[in-house]
Order: sequence, then C-alpha cells, then structure tokens
Amino acid sequence: MSRTEARTDGPLLAGGPSAHLRSTTTSLVIVTPEVVPGGPRPTPVLVHWGARLPDDLEPAALGPAVDPPRPHGAPDTPLLRPLLPLGSDGWRLGPVLRGARDDGRGWSPRLDVVAHVSDAATFTATFADADAGLRVEITLALSPEGVLAVDQRLTNTGTQPFAVDEFGAFLPLPARATQVLDLTGRWCRERDPQRIDLGMGAWVREGRRGRTGHDSPLVSVAGVPGFTFETGEVWGIHLGWSGDSVYRVERSPDGFTQVGACERLEHAEVRLAPGASYTAPTLYAAYSATGLDGLSACFHDFLRARPGHPGTPRPVVLNTWEAVYFDHRLDRLTALADVAASVGVERFVLDDGWFGGRRDDTAGLGDWYVSPDMWPDGLDPLISHVRALGMEFGLWVEPEMVNPDSDLYRAHPDWVLRVGDRLPPVWRNQQVLDLGNADAFAHLLGRLDALLTEYDIAYLKWDHNRDLVEAGHDGRPGLHEHTLALYRLLDELRARHPGVEIESCASGGGRVDFGILARTDRVWASDSNDSIERQHIQRWTGLLLPPELVGAHVGAEVSHTTHRHLGLAFRSATALFGHFGLELDLTALDESELIGVRDAIDTHKRWRALLHGGRTVRIDLPGADAVAHGVVALDGAEAVYSYAQLSTAPTEAPPLFRLRGLDASAHYRVRVVPVAGGPNTHQLREPRWITEGITTSGAALAEVGLRLPVLVPAEALLLHAERV
Ligand code: GLA
Repeated sequence: MSRTEARTDGPLLAGGPSAHLRSTTTSLVIVTPEVVPGGPRPTPVLVHWGARLPDDLEPAALGPAVDPPRPHGAPDTPLLRPLLPLGSDGWRLGPVLRGARDDGRGWSPRLDVVAHVSDAATFTATFADADAGLRVEITLALSPEGVLAVDQRLTNTGTQPFAVDEFGAFLPLPARATQVLDLTGRWCRERDPQRIDLGMGAWVREGRRGRTGHDSPLVSVAGVPGFTFETGEVWGIHLGWSGDSVYRVERSPDGFTQVGACERLEHAEVRLAPGASYTAPTLYAAYSATGLDGLSACFHDFLRARPGHPGTPRPVVLNTWEAVYFDHRLDRLTALADVAASVGVERFVLDDGWFGGRRDDTAGLGDWYVSPDMWPDGLDPLISHVRALGMEFGLWVEPEMVNPDSDLYRAHPDWVLRVGDRLPPVWRNQQVLDLGNADAFAHLLGRLDALLTEYDIAYLKWDHNRDLVEAGHDGRPGLHEHTLALYRLLDELRARHPGVEIESCASGGGRVDFGILARTDRVWASDSNDSIERQHIQRWTGLLLPPELVGAHVGAEVSHTTHRHLGLAFRSATALFGHFGLELDLTALDESELIGVRDAIDTHKRWRALLHGGRTVRIDLPGADAVAHGVVALDGAEAVYSYAQLSTAPTEAPPLFRLRGLDASAHYRVRVVPVAGGPNTHQLREPRWITEGITTSGAALAEVGLRLPVLVPAEALLLHAERV
C-alpha cells in the first residue's frame, strides 16, 4: 500500500494532501486545490464519498473536474467543500466547530494543514491555527467492509481556556440525495421509521435525553428519493455515543448538501484548559448503491469484524422479568430453571428484585447487596442450581440509578446528578448517580466487582431506566463527563472480568449505539415482547445491528405490554431472527406448549450459525400488512426466510414471495418449516409447493418468487432454502 506523508511548522502551501480511500464498494477522495491566483486556499477538499472509483484514479485530476464557477452574488473565491468546513473558508452551512474563549476570541479559526499521512485505507491530517490557539487532528479510516470512521480531536494550544460548543463530523452528499430516512420511537415502539423530502435548510434531530434514547435516529440516511431496502443509492451515518447528540442533514442554495453528527453539549460543558483536548465521538458512515440492505451489510460486516464481537454461539436465554417480576422465591425460580433447562435454555437471567429493599420499583436501587429478606442464603442456592442444570447464570443491574428510598441515597444524597440543591424531576421513582463524582464511581466499581468476584455470573443485564435531565455536576453541566465515566466503568469491569458478557438495556431499546456496543455484547431491543410490534422493531434495529446483537424473546401468549393474544408459532417465528430467548412463566405451560417451546429452541439452535453469521435481506412489499425478510449464508448454501402477516392482506390472491439474496445460478430446494411444534398457518395445502416443497433456481426465486398461501393476521410462514 503506498503511503504519502508530509509535515511542516506552518501551512502546507503546495503539495497539500490528496488521497483515495477505497473499499470494495466505496471510495472517498480528498484533493487539495492547486495554488492559483484568485483561487481557493489550498486546504483539503472532500470531493467524493460514494461509489467505488478505479484504483488508478489520480485524485488531483478530480480537482479541476469539480472546480465550481463564480456565480453572481456569491464569494469571489469559488467555494469548495473543505474537509473541515469553517466560516473562514466562506462556508455557510453548519460548521464542524463552534466555540470560543471567555472573551469571545478564537470563535472563527482558520485551520491550515500542518501534517498529513495517508494510504488506501486511512487519511490523517493535523490542522492548526496558531493565532486562535487551536489544533485539530482528523482521521478518516475506511474499513474493508465500507464503513468510514471519522475521528476528530480538538486541542487548545492557547494560553486561556477554550469552551467547545460543538465539534462534529460532516460529510458531503451529492445533490441527488434529497430524501432522508431516520428512526424515532418511544418505549415499546422503538425504531419507528420516518421519511422526509429535504428542502433547502436543515433536518435536525437533537437527542436531549441524556442517553441515546428510544427516539434516536439510529442511522440518518440520505438518498436518491424512493430508495428501499432493495434498491437505490443511500448514504448513512451513525454517531457512536450514548449521551446527547445532534444529527443534521443540510442542503443549501450554495449547492452543497451534507450529513453529519456531533455530541450535543451544553454551553461550557467542555471547557478546555491550555493544552487539553476534546475527542469527538466517532462518526460511522457507509454508502450503498443497493438500498438499505447494502447499507446494513456494511454496518453488520464492520461490527462482525471487530475483535470483540461475540464469537461463541449466542446462548438461548430465559429472562425472569415477565415470568415472575419481583416475586423472588427460591422454590419458584428453581422450578422455572428446571423447566428452562428441560426445553434447552442455556442462560438463566435473574432480573430486577434481588437486592437491597427492592420489592417493587419504588425502592432499593443503589443498594447492590443481595437482599437478606428474599435471599437469606445469598444467591448461591439459585446459581448452583442453575449451573448444575448446565446453564449460565446472568444478573440484572441498573448501576447508574438510585432510588431516593435506598441506603445509598440516604448516605450520599450528594452523589446524584443535579443542579445545586434542586433535584431533577423523578422518573420511575429514581435519580441518576453522578459518575463524574470519583467517590460514587469507586463505590459502584467496587460493588459490581465484588458481585462478579463472589458469584459465578456469566452475564449482566445492564439497565438504565430513565432519561437524564438537569444532569449537573458541581453546578456545571455534567453529562459529557458522566457518559465517559460510564464507558470507563464498563471498560474496567470488563478488564477485571473478561469472561462476563453484558447486555445494554435502557427501558428496552433506549441505549443502542456503537459507543455502548464497544463494551457490551447485545442490546435489549424493546420491552415489548408483542411479536407484531417486534416485527417492526427488529427489522429497523437491523438497519444498524446484525441479528446476533439484538435480544429477541418469546413472551407470554397475552402480551404484557399490549394485551394482544398471539400464538406460540408466530411468537417463535419472530424471535428466531435475533439473539433468541424466552420471557414467560414456563411453569404455567402445559405439556403440548412446552413441546412447542422446545421445538422453537431446537429450530433456532439448528439455524443459529446461519442466522447469526449470514447476510440479512429484507423484501420490499407493497403494503404495511406484512413484513418479509431472510438470512442467507455468506457462501449461498442455505437461507431462512420469514413472511409475517401483521394485518389483513389487501388482496384476495396472496402475493408472490421473492426469496432474495440466493446464488442466482444455483438451484435450491425450498420447504416450509413448521415452528414451535405446529403448522404456522391455518392453510397448509395450497399452493402445491407448500406441502411438497419446490426446487428451482436462485434467480427464479428472487425474480418470480413463490405464491404464498392465504395468511391471516399473526401468521408467519417460515421457509428454508438449501442449495442442491
Ligand atoms: C426495564 C427493562 C425490563 C426489566 C425492568 C426491570 O424496564 O427494560 O426488561 O428489566 O426494567 O425493572
């Protein structure tokens, strides 16, 4: 790989950086314009982020190609799209950096490149403004999977403090990217997509919840209008941060469109002392010419290539929450564990209620000592029982939270994030510990470390059940430090207990982002175990995350959150496509239901490697009455598909189900797979292939499809395709 490098004490006037970063599908081109009289100053310009360009592309040759004219009523120096867009270059869309010294100086720096180094995968540059006393280091790294990671650091090289208001990463979009899709949501309705046609101006999504949020955009996608899962050009970004954020897609009459994100900071929340630095959260970005599926493929492959990505088969979980809630009786839980083990569960997770005075959700948070009332002999009797049955043991914690009715709060009321003497509004009867407080941090680390040392715990369900408001530390905004301290806490615990896996839960799916996922092993997608809701929630969580990172449980027949009645086959067919588990009182099921549950677990285990290692495909359907998707093995040898009917179909004749993603030239044997011990649909005799199976080419399956049987709401057809 060829590498270019340069370094000076002052601005690099000639021979500024140019680079062509490339993955299989994507190119990013940086060019520094030549010095010409009346031309723009030689600062690096991002001229292309999109489709892959040839290896022999000479980046500098693209410079003149994208050189803009000088229209009337516009700057005399033609405006290009700088790598670090700032007002000092005439940039009038959102800038990368906002901030100033106490007297207002330094607010508009002019940053010159003083060093750069690049190869075909990475570009790093250092920018400096000696007068403003600021230095910026930026690294763009394009992974082989096509994910561009943008890392930026700002250093105060001046002699006075510098307050950072905003320091983000923005990337250029082509003018044709005028439609935006991102997600929103609420408790039990996470990842709700919304689509907006971008006019002139900005589409801004601010996260002000102190955690990533149920309504987080997850991925901000801009694309050529009409893009779908299957088709279209799309550019998507995700911010790896678990605190507040700002996502912005912006289009301006200047002729520029851009997308980017940054941490949302309160004024003076980050105030850099001389010599100090602020590191912005990493921005992850991907481009796809093959719709949202192509975008997801980049993110999924990128996550899977991480050294820390879960590499062992994801254990089938039994979570006790909707099975027993706060009713923690040893005999009840051991009976539940017995049945769980008998149906094939591999990890038994004891949820909320085992500690301090936690008999309901009004008290006890913060007191991370096993409750002597509920557990007179400690957790050992349960853990030994679970382990003897061959299952791992997992435990629920909510470390950042405290109930005012707790020993911890009574002893340390000052350990709570607050503004002066005023407490933030209560939420689920709880407040938030200030992890920026060294004593609170040390106490939490000590308690969690002690629990993991004392007990045979393989897994923590790490919860976070409220938004943070007025997150003040010593009278100043404290969320930034608190979020970093949370990361340090998790990192330290993982270093001390490397075998322990952690789930990121936040009232369901309120903390799903690459920041938390760098130190956790899966997310809890939602507190809704209603499979109709889950079909949407999991589909859209999958925009960013592969199935093995997304917890999906079979809940009770009557959903605890929506009161909908759903059969076991539909519930199982829905949960199969995630990190599978159960969350219901198995001791209340009859023998035939248990056979069904065992069958669902067996089916999941049989396909687990495929489901957790294959390529996710989603099939575009004309209406919202059904949802169809599948997972195809990377070598094309087999695939599993699901067609889930959510409400009554609008047509009498069911549509053809196109099985996408198979090897077009190979032939496949396709058959219906009954799940959970019974047929998944009421009508299993026609069309004929339903009973007999069918063998045809991957191309025909994708382009023509298979005629579906008539499905009624809450029926799902599961298909398995095997190359012959
Ligand atoms: C949150 C979680 C649930 C459960 C409860 C326990 O709501 O999302 O899964 O753990 O807390 O209080």
